[in-house]
Amino acid sequence: MTNLRKLIENFFLAFLRFFPAEFSKNFTLKFLKLLYYLRLIRFFSAQQDASSKEIVLGNLFFKNRIGIAGGLDKNAEYFHIFGLLGFGFIEVGTITLEPQKGNPKPRIFRFPNDKTLVNSLGFNNSGSVKALKNIKKNKKKFDGVLGVSIGKSKNTKNKNAWQDYLHLMDYFYVVADYLAINISSPNTENLRELSSDENLEFLLKKIAQKKIQLEQMHEKYTPIFLKLSPDEDDSNLKKIIEISERNNLDGFICSNTSTNHNYPKKGGMSGSLLGEKAQNLQKKVASLKQDSSLLIASGGIMNAEDVKERFSNSADLVQLYTGYIYYGNSLLKAALKIASS
Ligand SMILES: Cc1cc2nc3c(=O)[nH]c(=O)nc-3n(C[C@H](O)[C@H](O)[C@H](O)COP(=O)(O)O)c2cc1C
Repeated sequence: MTNLRKLIENFFLAFLRFFPAEFSKNFTLKFLKLLYYLRLIRFFSAQQDASSKEIVLGNLFFKNRIGIAGGLDKNAEYFHIFGLLGFGFIEVGTITLEPQKGNPKPRIFRFPNDKTLVNSLGFNNSGSVKALKNIKKNKKKFDGVLGVSIGKSKNTKNKNAWQDYLHLMDYFYVVADYLAINISSPNTENLRELSSDENLEFLLKKIAQKKIQLEQMHEKYTPIFLKLSPDEDDSNLKKIIEISERNNLDGFICSNTSTNHNYPKKGGMSGSLLGEKAQNLQKKVASLKQDSSLLIASGGIMNAEDVKERFSNSADLVQLYTGYIYYGNSLLKAALKIASS
């Protein structure tokens, strides 16, 4: 049975390489939905081959420590299916207030020899109303932890960005198990300027006040994590951690994609060549942060060794993305094995 499953998965991954990357991604997601409706998804579940180790972090219960990073399930249409495949947590989004088309296509490029991707999607998503509807529908069928990544709209000026984030908190605070603040995508113009100390202090103060209000109103605590850029310099990184903890953020995701690459394409690089950079950032954050702040590893996690290294460098949780695109469920199985050992 395991061999048949592996054969089908490998054939499918090879087949997808013949098509443009964004088409293949959307096709795979729709195909997974078809398998789900045909009740065949459990056949491909990585949970069959790997035992999982549960963990409680803060007020969240995780069936295991392996998740999917932001951007694979942009509109919260598939997270329950990824839960059945074996992931312990899924970060949906990044969601903006209004629907957005994103940047012109083509905007995802594969570099298979390096096992990297470059993308310039630019927060293409169906907007907050649709995403909330999807979350309410699919959460009943999901046994994992749901993260919701939120970001400012392309047309919102940075000085008004805080209003977008606060409105998005109104939408998602109750339904999310955690929120991820995305100010580190390289594909929305000037977004990364929000991490300068003055802008960040202003934004996170507003978010902290809103969090207290929402916590009291709903009698529910939703932790909030900040997703960091791997291109941040050391002195700014130190300030980011200080400002975040002063404003009661609950943890850090290390990291988003990097613009520091030599490919002849515009956008953020992910995958194998991001690994070292993301790992270095994670180590620095681990040494700067308080013990109580969670650390979520993301970036260039391509095999069991990478997963092991991230955990041994203080990661509480690990997120997959590009590695999962290249290696599929075999990476998830290997990661689950490490996470349960
Ligand atoms: C096609 C694509 C789209 C992405 N979209 C988002 C997004 O909407 N929000 C986000 O926080 N990160 C997004 N990311 C970044 C990933 O979540 C992840 O942090 C990054 O790719 C590094 O991990 P990896 O090397 O394992 O892919 C995207 C990455 C890719 C490749």
